Amino acid sequence: MGYLERYIGSRMSSALDTSAVRAQFPILGRQVHGKPLVYLDHAASSQKPVAVIEAQREYLMHYHSNVHRGAHALSQQATDAFERARSTVQYHIGAEHLEEIIWVAGATDGINLVAQAWGREHIQSGDVILITCMEHHANIVPWQMLAEERGAKVEAVNILEDGTLDDDDFQEKLKLGPKLVAFMHVSNTLGTINDAQRLTKMAKGAGAVVLIDGSQALPHMMVDVVDLGCDFYVFSGHKAYGPTGIGVLYGKKAILEAMKPWRGGGEMIDVVSLKNGTTYAGLPHKFEAGTPHISGAIGLGVALQWLTGLGLKSVMDHETILSSQARHQLGKIDGMRFIGSAPSTSGVVSFVVEGVHPYDLGTLLDQQGIAVRTGHHCTQPIMEHFDIPGTVRASFGAYNTLQEVDVLVQGVERALKMLR
Ligand code: ALA
Repeated sequence: MGYLERYIGSRMSSALDTSAVRAQFPILGRQVHGKPLVYLDHAASSQKPVAVIEAQREYLMHYHSNVHRGAHALSQQATDAFERARSTVQYHIGAEHLEEIIWVAGATDGINLVAQAWGREHIQSGDVILITCMEHHANIVPWQMLAEERGAKVEAVNILEDGTLDDDDFQEKLKLGPKLVAFMHVSNTLGTINDAQRLTKMAKGAGAVVLIDGSQALPHMMVDVVDLGCDFYVFSGHKAYGPTGIGVLYGKKAILEAMKPWRGGGEMIDVVSLKNGTTYAGLPHKFEAGTPHISGAIGLGVALQWLTGLGLKSVMDHETILSSQARHQLGKIDGMRFIGSAPSTSGVVSFVVEGVHPYDLGTLLDQQGIAVRTGHHCTQPIMEHFDIPGTVRASFGAYNTLQEVDVLVQGVERALKMLR
């Protein structure tokens, strides 16, 4: 019996004390349309615990100043907190060196940085960039733009009907000798957990540089970039209980060192001379032009510490219980079709119901206080593959409960009575 099946039909209690977790999220106490909020849109953006909100408030109230720029006490305090947050990220993802952690605005920004700073130097006419059909637009469009500019080609590995990656197609496409292989660790739409370590090994064996989009993995599971063996790993803070507008690009030191900077400006320079030109700062500042999102970085550091405090294994187990229970109960509804039912899935449940448009269902759920995402989830190629306009997606975080799964299922049933 598989891991998921063990929970099906049973009401396993989770190792997480969800009441204690929920008490740390003030927003979860509010009502929407007169109903208690049931927030099932974690994959779009997670809610923030008080610890994160307070850390940002503390910085803004008591020691806001620019970083790395002043000898005064406030600047020193801000710089210390900002750099401490970088160390927290390094520790959290198991990076070997502190300077491998680059602050970016989010996963999208990190991928664009790699496409511009690494890609424009290394991708030549006729080269292949290999992605997958399940990628978020953020891991498709930057490569298409680069390929168009350089005369290169973007190829995509197929997905199977259950939403897993087509292994045979992956092996076949590796024979094209891609310069870069970029794939998501966990799918935001299908919930599929890719075997990132294995895919990386295969891609590296074929001589490719490997980038992993970890946006949907990092908030839910242990990530160790050295174990994965990838060259680049990106994630966004706001999906990991942290602030918006901040994220991380991890890159192996040697590859980052060899890359030229992308954005120019303050902070990323060594010496600027109108006569002699400009020399650049070392890592990580070479890639951090301009004043960074200081409160965001501090907040993200606290979010990762908070997540570690919960225990990532417990978080993942808890979310697996919720999503398998949701699949079990929703699966009894007439006309229900899950989009993505891989053997290994995260806390994401995407579905369509025969004869019902996802937007209509989403709207009626919202009226009951249930927040789900509807649409293509920035993965239009998946919609193309399954020939659907979109899905309804419920996605779970550490603060969701089995009672909320019941509310979702009852909400769907109620909405379907009105729509059918
Ligand atoms: N990529 C985010 C999602 O899946 C926005 O909803």
